[in-house]
Formats: sequence, C-alpha cells, structure tokens
Amino acid sequence: MSVLRPQPPEDPIQYDPAAVFASGMVAAADLAALADRLDAARAESLADLDRWRAGGARPGEALDPAFIDLPDRLLAAYQADRASSELFAILQAARRIREAVDRVVVLGIGGSFMGTRALFEALCHPFHNELPRGERGGRPRLSFEGFNMDNDSAQGLLDLVAPAGAPRGDDLLDRWALLVVSKSGGTLETAAATRLFLAALAGAVGHDRQRLAARVVPITGRTGRLAALATALGCPDVFDIPDGVGGRFSVFTAVGLLPAAIVGIDVVRLLEGAAAMNRRFCEAPVAENAILRYVGVCHLAERAGATIRVLSSWSNRLEAVGLWYDQLLAESLGKDEKGATPLTVVTTRDLHSRGQQHQEGRRDKLITNLVVGEPRRDRLVVPKLPDGLADEDQLDDLVGTAWPGILAAATGGTNEAYAEAARPTADLLLPRIDEHVVGQLLQMLMLATVAEGRLVGTNPYGQPGVEAYKRLMMRRLRA
Ligand code: PA5
Repeated sequence: MSVLRPQPPEDPIQYDPAAVFASGMVAAADLAALADRLDAARAESLADLDRWRAGGARPGEALDPAFIDLPDRLLAAYQADRASSELFAILQAARRIREAVDRVVVLGIGGSFMGTRALFEALCHPFHNELPRGERGGRPRLSFEGFNMDNDSAQGLLDLVAPAGAPRGDDLLDRWALLVVSKSGGTLETAAATRLFLAALAGAVGHDRQRLAARVVPITGRTGRLAALATALGCPDVFDIPDGVGGRFSVFTAVGLLPAAIVGIDVVRLLEGAAAMNRRFCEAPVAENAILRYVGVCHLAERAGATIRVLSSWSNRLEAVGLWYDQLLAESLGKDEKGATPLTVVTTRDLHSRGQQHQEGRRDKLITNLVVGEPRRDRLVVPKLPDGLADEDQLDDLVGTAWPGILAAATGGTNEAYAEAARPTADLLLPRIDEHVVGQLLQMLMLATVAEGRLVGTNPYGQPGVEAYKRLMMRRLRA
C-alpha cells in the first residue's frame, strides 16, 4: 500500500478588478500610473519591519509590523527544532485542553477575539457547537464572551457552563476551560468577564486552585494585569502576544492559533497559506501583485468618491472574516479624518436588505465580492416535490440544479445588474474555503491594510482614538 499522501491544494487567491475599470470609476491606466507609489508603499511596509527590529520607532510612534513575517518565522522554528518551537507549545496546549474539556470560552474584544471567530466560522462545521462530541471529532465547543458588557448574553453563557442550582459532576462533557485574551491585559470588558467566568470556573472545580489554574489559559503581553493574574493563578500554559504584533494583526499568534488548534483547524496549513501570500506580496511585480493591485484599486476608487468599501461575501462562512476585516480597516486607516468605511455583507442574504441601495443609492461604494470556487461538501440539488404534489411552486424545471449553480447564477446576475448601473465591482476569487486559502486571505488583507496606510501617509498601527471612550468610561465608573 502506498504511504504517499495526496498533496493538498495550494491554489492562489486571484483578484479581478475588470468590472471596476468597466464601470468607469477607475481607469486601468490610472492603476498603472500608480505603480511606483505602490512599490514604494510596499517597500516602506517591509522597511517598517527592519526599523522595528532595530528599535527604530520614532518617539510616540505605534509600530507593530512583526505580524508580516510571523507565519514564516513560526513555520521555520517548527521545522528547525519542533520540540522547542512556539507552534509545538501551542499544539501541545491545544491537545491538553481538547482532551480535558468539552467547551472552551474565549474572553476577548476587538483583535483579541475577532480573528478567532473568523477562523472558527470559516473552517469548522457551521454547526460545530451543536454537534455531539463524537461528531466534533472529540473537539470542544467554542464560545465567546468578554467583548461587550451585555448582561443577558453573559448570563446566557453562564446558564450553559454553570447552570444555577445544578451541581455539576466531573463528566468530560460538563468540563470547560477559559482562554483569556488581552494584549494590554487591562481592557475592562474582558477583565470584568474574566472575574465572572473565573468565579464560575472556580465553583465548577470545587475551588481547587490547581485544577482551576489548569483550566485557564491566558494569552497576553509579557507584562500587565492579566500576566500578573496568570502568575498568581499558576497557570501551566500562558502564551505571549509578541511585541511588535498589534491586537488586530494577532490572528497568527497564539491568539488565533491556540483556539483554532483546539477546535481542529490545521494551523500549519493556515500559516503556510499566509506565508505563500507573503511571498507574493514581496516578490511579484506591481502589475501582477494581487495585494498591491487591490490596494491601488481601493485607493483610486476612494479618490473618485467610493468612500464605502463593501466586502460582499458569497458564503455565510466568511461573514466573520468580513467583520474581522471591518475592524482591521477601520482601526488602522480611520484616522486624521481619512479612511474608507468598511461594510461586510453576505449575499444573497443582504441583496434582500441592502441590494436596493447598492444598485441605485449614492455612488459612494466599491464592492469587492468574495467568491468561492467550490463547496467543501457534496452538492445539494433542487429535489422533486414529495409524491402527490404537482408543480405548485413552479420549480420543476430546476429539479437537479445544484446549489452552487444557483449561487453562481446569483453572482453573475448581480454583477451584471451592477455593471448595467456602472457600480464598480471587483472579485476576490477564493478557490475554496480551507486553511490554506483562509491563511492567504487574512494575510493578504493585513498586508493590504498596512500598504494602503503607507500609500496615503496614515500610520496603520495603533488606535489612539479608542482611548477616549475608555478614559471617559473609567472616569464615570470611578468618579
Ligand atoms: O487592534 C487592536 O489593538 C484592538 O482592537 C485590540 O485588540 C482591542 O482593543 C483589545 O485590546 P486588548 O487585547 O489589549 O484587550
């Protein structure tokens, strides 16, 4: 019997802005004329990494470019000396948690949970949490909290993990663990939720300090309040969010990789996809560089009035990727009274809520479709009506038509309708949704965001504006 395993596919994501050019909003010649500036933006983005390594941030400057080569560094260390590598430590901790509990609660806000949710929704079974453990391959359920101060949703999750008045046994299916994620370690929403869920977990383990510590995995900066709590608790696994990697760029640190590995996502393939995108970014000439062409088209469209960037996902499973990208773009480039407004939609769902405006509303939108080439599962087809019914719904002519075929007709029809109305529409073509492709996509969007920042003279790192609400909230709480 052959021991050779088939090589999993590594097809690249493609970017096609032809319909943006055809709409007249952006001319192909204008994109070509931007080539030198795009090249310079790429060079500056990469030079940021050298500057950061050399400790060359200017006084007061936020500089977090270490996400750029992080996938390559993690993979290289894993290949060079597996046992001492960060990735190995992540995989080991994931295994320990996976075998110990049936639910993991991730506490975090912004960049400390949105990437994880994007990976979970894109790459796990769409109803992962509702499947019995066996059908989840023995992987725990994943729930999120600590991203708001919503009393009733926190209570709702407590109902699941620590039901009032019901003493819980120590059955594996009742056991749960906490991943607490905060780079600063001081974000109030996450810190308050940490207290709440720590108290519930302490009750669940009979206030046994050692068992409690084993069920909490903090992921945080080297110093700070959460790091101090981790030390005081004596948690056996604590992961670092490295210096030089900001919250919304941290999906390929333990922040995203640990929960992903716990729920069975192949994190090595994810990193390989991201590393492949890095090579394209660094090596491809501007005219063939999908990332830089995307940046250029978005920039030129914004200059022509498209201040709203609609990321239109043709798959339910990429909605959370879109929401992660909304945050990435908004926090990175929404500064100095500049920056496009991102908006995620899921089509065809949102054609029935936003389609009217996109077709006939203000000409202030650039639509980028996220189109998926092939489904992961067997194709569904339109079935016959049950016996005894005639063609009352008048769909008999479509019997046997596959779901992806109907979706393709919807994509084609929508693009045609937008083209007729000269609505600029580009396509990001994903061959399929798997780890390699999602790794490429997330890295592409992060690289595009920093390159656009350098193109327009906006520092993509840091989010000074968010501090205002935090300061005023604390003033009210501690007045
Ligand atoms: O991108 C960012 O840095 C933010 O979105 C942070 O991730 C978010 O504010 C959470 O911060 P912290 O991880 O420090 O709790």
